[in-house]
Amino acid sequence: MCGIVGYIGTKEAYPILIKGLKRLEYRGYDSAGVALIGENQHLNVYKAKGKVSELEDFALQKDTSGNIGIAHTRWATHGEPCSANAHPHYSSSESLALIHNGIIENYSVLKDKLQSKGFAFKSTTDTEVLVQLIEYIKQTNNLDLLTAVQLALKEVIGAYAIAVLEKDNPDTIIAARKSSPLVVGVGNDEMFLASDATPIVEYTDQVVYLKDEEIAVLKKGEPLKIVDLHNVEITPEVKTVVLSLGQLEKGGYPHFMLKEIFEQPDCIFDCMRGRINVESDNITLSAVIDHKDKLLNAKRFIIVACGTSWHAALIGKQLIENFCRIPVEVEYASEFRYRNPVIDSNDVVIAISQSGETADTLAAIELAKSKGAFIYGICNSVGSSIPRVTDTGSYIHVGPEIGVASTKAFTGQVTVLAMLALTLAKEKQTIDKNEYLSIVKELSSIPEKMKDVLELNGEIAELSKIFTYAHNFIYLGRGFLFPVALEGALKLKEISYIHAEGYPAAEMKHGPIALIDAEMPVVVIATHNALYEKVLSNIQEIKARKGKVIAIVNKGDNVISKIADYCIELPTTIECLDPLITTIPLQLLAYHIAACKGLDVDQPRNLAKSVTVE
Ligand code: G6P
Repeated sequence: MCGIVGYIGTKEAYPILIKGLKRLEYRGYDSAGVALIGENQHLNVYKAKGKVSELEDFALQKDTSGNIGIAHTRWATHGEPCSANAHPHYSSSESLALIHNGIIENYSVLKDKLQSKGFAFKSTTDTEVLVQLIEYIKQTNNLDLLTAVQLALKEVIGAYAIAVLEKDNPDTIIAARKSSPLVVGVGNDEMFLASDATPIVEYTDQVVYLKDEEIAVLKKGEPLKIVDLHNVEITPEVKTVVLSLGQLEKGGYPHFMLKEIFEQPDCIFDCMRGRINVESDNITLSAVIDHKDKLLNAKRFIIVACGTSWHAALIGKQLIENFCRIPVEVEYASEFRYRNPVIDSNDVVIAISQSGETADTLAAIELAKSKGAFIYGICNSVGSSIPRVTDTGSYIHVGPEIGVASTKAFTGQVTVLAMLALTLAKEKQTIDKNEYLSIVKELSSIPEKMKDVLELNGEIAELSKIFTYAHNFIYLGRGFLFPVALEGALKLKEISYIHAEGYPAAEMKHGPIALIDAEMPVVVIATHNALYEKVLSNIQEIKARKGKVIAIVNKGDNVISKIADYCIELPTTIECLDPLITTIPLQLLAYHIAACKGLDVDQPRNLAKSVTVE
């Protein structure tokens, strides 16, 4: 949550910062701001409530000159979204400006202390406390900015990625991180700073991912310097990022979400590339090769995740238990971290996260590590925090996901979980050879089947128009398709603001059936599998109460098509891989309903893509 950008070099900083903020808007879009040291040596701060475009309008007639600046797009934690609470925050003397991503947990104690020393506050944020604290330490001890930042951060409890500008030090940006991501881009005569590499790749592919409690000193004409809180120098580890600009643009689609839905056949192909050998129908996952003993001897798997990744985890549980006969528990990372779980060195914890930055998932990993568990990460964002703290893992390789509602990451996560379950099952000999071969073969045909599903886009767009009236939706599925029902409901909620519940179809009788009337759309995922007949009965029960059934069925289904109000017909696949196919029409349905309602699909209200606060 919150996006940070910084620039120091020979170019005009302002356009680079604005462009960078737009790339990071997925991290929050309540307000935005920029601080620049202009040609007149002033430290100019401009901020506006709303999106980056509001900031641009606000700054139109202002002095935006300067080759050094920092900028921020906010997702509010402490203090409502308004211009006063937007970052950057000035210190009292207006000689410092600071941007921050994270939460200063002890801000109230620090604020009391500063107020007693005469400091006045203009905002209700925790961030303003930090910039005032730095100023206080700097002034009282007559210190340079770096030392003041180091001392201030030693007093802070919480999470931060920060960048500070000082009016009288127009050649330097000081930046630091703890539990919130920060990347430095190293170019020729210029350096960049950002919450992830997306604002940087246009200018350089050389980056340094800061580690916890590292402080970066970006100084004009000097190489990047990194120190810790005790001023011990650390050699920067420069990495090359592989990210193309095309991946960060809409490529002709009206929204990133639609682009990302349509990318799924290619993404899933990329996810399997080099891992599935089509000739031999064999899967090779390097993490399993490298840590065979640990994984095969695990007494139990615990999967921790949040949001959509948690839904993928529910499918992972069924895959691993089904094929490997190892017990699997699925936990919300946010609950797991605070409930003193029973866990030891015989457990393997799988952490699933698209962004690799979710604060609760990171904290769950730390807890599991402290109890001796082995940690396996399944992430998308290369170089993010979670892959750096896990023992091993597999990237899903679906490319940057920018739409706030997760789509291709979900199918990528399910694909990796399927490959993991099959690989372990083969090693443990808990799967029949022919079954293994047929599932692997089918997995490699999924991208082509996904293309067939995407052909239904026009049909689903038409269908969606009928349902823009709805205030509620129910989604039903069973077995592997229950998590798909949850995911379908979540997509609709997130972007269309229609209340939606996902339920296991058989549970409908225990509550949700009371909600069904002629106004209630019920999406039933009823593809042909072992529980088809049971789901058919559930559809009858809904129809008997005049509910509107949108059935997701297989091509050629002539039973449900006669009783459902609307049918979406999909290609057939093996039951355990059906989530990869059945999720797509639900993504499209949510997308088109939201688009029809004229809503901001890519940046829905109150949400952020990367939740770096708990
Ligand atoms: C936020 C996003 C969701 C995402 C969840 C977990 O809520 O809006 O789309 O599923 O975080 O994020 P992660 O990056 O850990 O998968």
